[in-house]
Amino acid sequence: MKAFAYLLLVGITLGACNTEKKETAAVKPGITKIAWGKTDNKQVDLYTLTNKNGVQVKISSYGGTVTSWIVPDKNGKKANILLGFDSLSGYLTPPPYFGALIGRYGNRIAKGKFTLNGKEYQLATNDGPNHLHGGVKGFDKVVWDATVISDTMPSLILTYVSKDGEEGYPGNLKVTVQYSLTDDDELAIDYNAETDKATPVNLTQHNYYNLTGDPSNTILNHTLMINADNYTPVDSTLIPTGKLVSVKGTAFDFTKPTKIGARIDSVKGGYDHNWVLNRKDNSIQSVAILVDSASGRKLEVFTTEPGLQFYSGNFLDGKLKTSNGKPINQHTGLCLETQHYPDSPNQPSFPNTILEPGVKYQSSTKYKFSLLK
Ligand code: GLA
Repeated sequence: MKAFAYLLLVGITLGACNTEKKETAAVKPGITKIAWGKTDNKQVDLYTLTNKNGVQVKISSYGGTVTSWIVPDKNGKKANILLGFDSLSGYLTPPPYFGALIGRYGNRIAKGKFTLNGKEYQLATNDGPNHLHGGVKGFDKVVWDATVISDTMPSLILTYVSKDGEEGYPGNLKVTVQYSLTDDDELAIDYNAETDKATPVNLTQHNYYNLTGDPSNTILNHTLMINADNYTPVDSTLIPTGKLVSVKGTAFDFTKPTKIGARIDSVKGGYDHNWVLNRKDNSIQSVAILVDSASGRKLEVFTTEPGLQFYSGNFLDGKLKTSNGKPINQHTGLCLETQHYPDSPNQPSFPNTILEPGVKYQSSTKYKFSLLK
């Protein structure tokens, strides 16, 4: 008993000395929070959401970044299926959007230009000639305000007000993103926004999945199914040509589950394209299934969005290191970003991405984890 009390005391003292991890506290059932550091003169926290199965998701108020998602494999062995870092410093370098919320406009806008109500706007260009993922300091690089609720499931509600003129966009945009972890092992993401001037909005989330749970493996043996008969081909700067092209007979046909590595060599640079999802209506529907048969892990994507950017981690080049010091090599993570099509503000035939004042932007996506039966 005495020994136990002593160990407890040592534990508490050590915990108190650890500056990064102070204030560990259960803020609500299924949710804990630690102080994770500071940036922009703002406190950054890391929240852990846990469901009844012991599945855990960690999310930081910096960039609304999902830093890990811990799930079992077919043998019950738990691992993180996301690329991410243990500490805030890893994200300040910064990595290419690991786990982050993306806005005001996910993916590219050609030359950072668009015309709205007769006025031409020039956005920040941060990807060659183009604007990418909201600009130099997109929603992935700001500290969000956070609150938690756990009435039916643990949820983290993040809000951010993007000021009129930020990165060149018109209008004050108030954004709310709710992350929830359900007892069915779904990570649900609900996006809401409102503006006071017409502006392009296309919100998404940038988890890099590696279902092997070990970032030293590539994702080339994962099989992928995307419910899309068409995709949007791109030019050399990854801007859509404006055409919707049939996937039939091409390396873009994922209508049946197909190994990612099977045809990737025939796609210049690897997969980094928008698939035009087959949709019945605007309700949330299943659009993609990712499987790693070796571990038995499966991830199904549901969304209300019309497009899906499948990016096969082409630009990862080993320069970034995991928190254990291992290089993060090409194709060791893949993204399934639900979205409206890239460059929509300049493509009249694509679904509308202009949010008008008085209209509510709403979008929902769910990533459902399970084990193969
Ligand atoms: C998106 C883009 C890619 C790349 C990654 C981040 O998925 O489509 O071209 O910029 O983000 O590196």
